Amino acid sequence: MRLAILGGSFNPVHLGHLHLADSVLSAFDYDRLILIPAHISPFKRRGEYGAANAGPQDRLDMLLASIPADPRFSVDDMELKRRGVSYTADTVNAVIDKYRPRGKPALILGDDLAADFYRWKNAEEIAAKTDIILARRVDPRPAFEFPFPHKILNNDMMAVSSQKIREYAASDGPWRYLVPAGARVIIEERGLYGKAASSVSAELTAAVEEAARKTLAAERFLHSRSTALTARDLALRFGLNPAEAYLAGIAHDLGKSLNKKRMLALAEKDGRPVSALERKKPGLLHGRAAAVLLQGRFKLHNKRVLEAVALHTSGAADMGPLAMVVYIADKIEFSREAVNPALREMAGKAPRPGEKALSSLLLAVLEDNAAYLAENKLELLPATAELLQKLRKELT
Ligand SMILES: [Fe+2]
Ligand SMILES: [Fe+2]
Repeated sequence: MRLAILGGSFNPVHLGHLHLADSVLSAFDYDRLILIPAHISPFKRRGEYGAANAGPQDRLDMLLASIPADPRFSVDDMELKRRGVSYTADTVNAVIDKYRPRGKPALILGDDLAADFYRWKNAEEIAAKTDIILARRVDPRPAFEFPFPHKILNNDMMAVSSQKIREYAASDGPWRYLVPAGARVIIEERGLYGKAASSVSAELTAAVEEAARKTLAAERFLHSRSTALTARDLALRFGLNPAEAYLAGIAHDLGKSLNKKRMLALAEKDGRPVSALERKKPGLLHGRAAAVLLQGRFKLHNKRVLEAVALHTSGAADMGPLAMVVYIADKIEFSREAVNPALREMAGKAPRPGEKALSSLLLAVLEDNAAYLAENKLELLPATAELLQKLRKELT
């Protein structure tokens, strides 16, 4: 495997980083590019990370959440594990040791740092062991002689920097679409860099979780916890808000403890039709009842979370991605017995670009469920049948 290395603080990772990485792979013959976040960059003052309020783990998580759809990229946390100041010479040796690449690994160097490269720790050794690629970071290109063998990348420059994003985020500026979707949800969920807060508060989630703990049977509560964690994982993988996924997962079965009459009465308030089957078996309405309860009792108004809770039993042809994630999580979470292992395996795989991975996973779960119902001579809900038909048409 031919490897290229792109190091940096990634505080946070932004579209310019990924565009640069993509440009290297387009211009030169490498199989994979490894992004390596620095623990402490020799070029930054120590204070930067603390003041900016994103720790090493945050920077790593943002990177991991930004590239799962692209198998050409990977992230390595070796510099974080090594701690201390991150010297490129150590990293180059560690990469060669660990990956045994074919040929020399490429080292991507911004031309803003290149003029001082000769002063780096073991610069000659780095230059001997890698193929240095000089990438454009500043315009116009600085004029200097680079005294080591190298290639020049004529990449486009994007007018985006981590510093600008941090400043924007701290002042409610337009930072959101300068970073990959996965990084955006982590910044929002964790409230990094100042004001970027999640639309779902930690207090609300804690209150709902406490209600689930108190009102549900122990086993049902464990199932809810496991659903919440599975939904959170899936949300991260598919670029959705993990805090919303967790909340929907922990709340989805809150209606289970209601009596049938109350379930029906609550569900009828949400505006969707109640089918004959649901009228006969009001237990099927526990999700919709829970969504109505969450609005009244907990003042939860996040539409995505409410939809996910309401639709977790039936699904619906028009359901959104968060609802899909919670539907899937409910069916495959790890405390559930007799789950088809192929579904869990499919859910654990990173989606590939161009695949309708979330819909495909949902279809697989639905087909599995439909087969089980048919075997036991049970009826499909009309909304489920409609969803199934739509996905089959779209995907097969
Ligand atoms: Fe349920
Ligand atoms: Fe459930």
